[in-house]
Amino acid sequence: MTEFTVTPWEVTGDIDYDELQRKFGTSPIDDEVLRRLSKYGELHPMLKRGIFYSHRDLIPLLDSYDKGDEFMLYTGRGPSGNTHLGHMMPWIFNKWVQDTFKVPMFFQMTDDEKFLFKDLTLHDTRNMAYENALDFIALGFDTEKTKIILDTECIKTLYPIALKVAKKVTFSTAKAVFGFENSSNIGQIFFTTMQTAPAFLASEVYGKQMPCLIPCGIDQDPHFRVTRDVAPGLNYPKPSMLYCKMFPGLSGADKMSSSDENATIYTTDTPKAVKKKVGRAFTGGCVSVEEQRQKGGNPDVCAVFKYNYYMFEHDDKKLEEMIHKCRNGEILCGECKQALTEKINVFLEDHQSKREEAKEVVDSMTFDGFKW
Ligand code: TRP
Repeated sequence: MTEFTVTPWEVTGDIDYDELQRKFGTSPIDDEVLRRLSKYGELHPMLKRGIFYSHRDLIPLLDSYDKGDEFMLYTGRGPSGNTHLGHMMPWIFNKWVQDTFKVPMFFQMTDDEKFLFKDLTLHDTRNMAYENALDFIALGFDTEKTKIILDTECIKTLYPIALKVAKKVTFSTAKAVFGFENSSNIGQIFFTTMQTAPAFLASEVYGKQMPCLIPCGIDQDPHFRVTRDVAPGLNYPKPSMLYCKMFPGLSGADKMSSSDENATIYTTDTPKAVKKKVGRAFTGGCVSVEEQRQKGGNPDVCAVFKYNYYMFEHDDKKLEEMIHKCRNGEILCGECKQALTEKINVFLEDHQSKREEAKEVVDSMTFDGFKW
């Protein structure tokens, strides 16, 4: 068995996603769940392709929605650096959820978290939060229904909720869930209460029990296990969860990570930078053209294929064709790289202009009306 680690602060190794689901105790998004979801509109490719693959209590949330209850959509970002495609993936999915269910949304930016866990100043994390918020807004979230929370700004509203949570979570639970040690700073130990707060915030804002749905990476599950455990004792509904796999790196690693700059595509990258990075991507192809033509390639290990699968090719037929041609040696890695480069650059050109436009609305979308 290969070793892997998935925690909110560290993802390494070859991730066995089924094993992770068993370990965390989440439920699979199986055909029955997909059938139920397809009642609300065309399924997002990330659902059909098993990228969003696991959940907690999705069905009761849909049942209450069917009875006419709204729910709050909530996700977030720890602003520690520039936005890359891996960060955008769950946000793109969240946009689909908002469009499909027409629900209000909170986007939490945990500048406090990244200050506590990384070698960054509060000034750094706030600046990154602003930059990341532009990327989030550029995806087209409903400007009226979506509110951005910055922890250090919205603390007045979040703190009473965080305190109620803190009173219910012992040090021994925090240690068991997150692996803290005596050398961990005490802000880190408190932090999970801050990530829990927005899950309960809608119930406070609307003055009634408001269900909440949180689509995010499965690495965040430890936080939300705590959230769900304390909810009943505080008279809030347990949030429902939708979990996705990690977006792969261009190097073939399981998770795109800023620690590997050359294998990471940022939203602000130039077409030239994208070309260079995709050009160096791991494909697992053969050394010589002749060999590749003869033996074919292997999409299962190819980062370029994964990018098409995760994000850049929505058409299932085209994807099948890609697999077929690759395995038969009809298409070479260089051609696939070029095609992917073009797709990414088309996406980024549009995104970058929307990102500029986002500057006009970034102040009007803040929770509690704070100014950047
Ligand atoms: N802890 C998350 C991170 O490091 C940020 C975050 C805050 C978040 N609230 C969230 C992520 C809700 C998903 C869902 O990126």
